[in-house]
Amino acid sequence: MKNIVVLVSGGGTNLQALIDAEHRGEIPNGKITCVISSKADAYALERAKQNNIKTCVLVRKDYADIAAYSRAMVEALQAENADLVIYAGFMTILDEQVTNAFPYKMMNVHPALIPSFCGKGYYGLRVHEEVLRRGVKVTGATVHFVTEVCDGGPIILQAAVPVLETDTPEILQRRVMEECEWKLLPKAAALFCDGKITVKDGKTHIES
Ligand code: GAR
Repeated sequence: MKNIVVLVSGGGTNLQALIDAEHRGEIPNGKITCVISSKADAYALERAKQNNIKTCVLVRKDYADIAAYSRAMVEALQAENADLVIYAGFMTILDEQVTNAFPYKMMNVHPALIPSFCGKGYYGLRVHEEVLRRGVKVTGATVHFVTEVCDGGPIILQAAVPVLETDTPEILQRRVMEECEWKLLPKAAALFCDGKITVKDGKTHIES
């Protein structure tokens, strides 16, 4: 059984999707053992508590710099014996100490079809605002491994939805979450815990 640690910063609907999938038996070889939040008031922490999952708060401002914060994060993850670390709406960029300590053991869900609308500055609702501004007809979500390049790690799963003329950023965000993120993230976690994802030449291979 693999220990899954989930990193959050906000509402935690992706965390909820993971918890629900685990309860339905869809992540048979993984267990969410701890939720770490970068914000003390993140609603995601409530979701964890309601499900008797251990929580921890690590706030960037409490550390001198990103290196000290990243070191504290590595220590917290090692203390939890994390086998898989999932960024589920985690909004702080960590340095290479973290990616070096957990190579291809950290995954992130991004609310767009990488390599579009990604990288520094593209997070949360901003992504959907940019999608609407650019007028693309299709968007979606991507689950990828976290490397030292922001949103640049090997892609694990992607799914797409149409962009409609009547969409607001909020409506589009909801569609991307419901139809893409909440399905892809638990699926990627299950595949990882089943040992079905390998990485070669910067690309993933998923055993069927
Ligand atoms: C999700 O849409 C997630 O993809 C996005 O933030 C939202 C968090 O929602 N993450 C990023 O933009 C990371 N670059 P949640 O807290 O309800 O899961």
